[in-house]
Amino acid sequence: MYLLELGGEDDAFAAREAASAATGVDLVGPSVALADAIVPERVRGLAYTHRASDLLGRTDADLTSARTLLEAATLEREGSIAVRATDVHGESGVDTERAERELGQVLVDRGFSVDLEDPDHVLRAVFSAGRLEADALDGDLFEREDRRDGRAEGNAVSICALGWLAAASVRDFGARAPTDKPFFQPGSMDPLLARAVANIAGAKAGATVLDPMCGTGGVLVEAGLLGADVIGTDAQAKMAAGARTNLEHFLERDEPSPTGVSRGDWHVGRGDATRLPLPDDSADAVVFDAPYGRQSKVETHRLEDLVSGALAQARRVGSRAVVVADRSWASEAREAGWELEAAFERRVHRSLTRYVLVLE
Ligand SMILES: C[S@@+](CC[C@H](N)C(=O)[O-])C[C@H]1O[C@@H](n2cnc3c(N)ncnc32)[C@H](O)[C@@H]1O
Repeated sequence: MYLLELGGEDDAFAAREAASAATGVDLVGPSVALADAIVPERVRGLAYTHRASDLLGRTDADLTSARTLLEAATLEREGSIAVRATDVHGESGVDTERAERELGQVLVDRGFSVDLEDPDHVLRAVFSAGRLEADALDGDLFEREDRRDGRAEGNAVSICALGWLAAASVRDFGARAPTDKPFFQPGSMDPLLARAVANIAGAKAGATVLDPMCGTGGVLVEAGLLGADVIGTDAQAKMAAGARTNLEHFLERDEPSPTGVSRGDWHVGRGDATRLPLPDDSADAVVFDAPYGRQSKVETHRLEDLVSGALAQARRVGSRAVVVADRSWASEAREAGWELEAAFERRVHRSLTRYVLVLE
C-alpha cells in the first residue's frame, strides 16, 4: 500500500486526480490518502499530490504511537536514512522536529545510519487530524464498504502514516504562471488546475486531448507536458494565435518534459466548439473551460447554446470529457448523452464557485 500526501484545498478533487496515477485511492484524513498501487512516473506529473510513499503502517496522530509503530515495523531496507515529518495544516499539534529526531533514533537503534543531505531512504511521517470533508465520501471512489471502516461522514480522524518515499511530483508550476507565459489573457487557467484536469482526462503518451475553447492553451500545455498529443480550437483568431505561441514555447523542445516524458505534438486552429472541424472519435478526451457568463465575449452564441453545443460535439469527438465552469452544466451534459462520473465544486471567492464535471 502507498501513502499519498495531497495538496490544494479540495481533498476529494486531489484524490480524483491521484486516481490517474494510482489504484484504490482512499482518503483517510485531511490531505492524506492511501492507495493500493502507484505508477511512479505518473505521480511525477500530479498537481495536487506531492508525494507517494511505500506504506509501513498507520496509527493515531501522536508521537508515542508513531514510535511504537516504527519499532514494530518490518524494515526491508538498509543504508542511510533521513526522517521527514509533517503536521498537516498544523492540526495534530505534533512537534515535527521532535518527531524527526525520535523516529530517526528508532531507525538508528535498528541499524540504520543518518544522512540528512543525501540519504538512501527517506521516511515520511505524516500526522493529520481533523474532519474528513463530507463530500470527500461521495462518488465512486468511495463505494467500497471495506474501506469505510471506522469512518462516517464528517467524522473526526487522527492518523499518523509512515512510509518510505517512493515518488514525488515535480513542482515546476510557478514557471508557467499565466502572466509569465509568452501570451497572456485574463481568464487563463492556473497551471495547477490545468494539470489536474489534464490528468483526470487521461493525458499521457499515446493519448490525444482536445480543448475546443483553448484560450491561451493552459490545459493543452499541461497535457502536452504529460506526453499527450493535443489539439486546440478557439473562436477568436487572437486566442488561436496566442495558444500557438504558448504551445510552441513549452512543447517544441527536444529534451523531455520536467516529468521525464517526451512532449506531445500539438495542433491549434480557429474554430467553433459547436461545429468542430474534426472527425468522429478523433480524440481520447475533451477538456474545456467554458466561458464565464460575465467574462468572455461569446461570439454569436447564447452561453447555454454554446455549452450544450460544445458538449454534444465533445461527445461525438471523444469518449470522456472534463468541463470546468462557473456553474454546473450537469443537466446540459446529460442531455448531450454524457454520464456524470464525478462532480466537484469549489468556492474560489465570494462571487465565483468553480465546478469541475468528469463525464463518460
Ligand atoms: C475561459 S476561456 C478558456 C481559457 C483557457 N482554458 C486558458 O487557459 O486560457 C474560454 C474561451 O472560449 C472561447 N470561445 C468562446 N466561444 C467559443 C466558441 N463558440 N468556439 C470556440 N471557442 C469559443 C473564448 O474565445 C475563450 O478563449
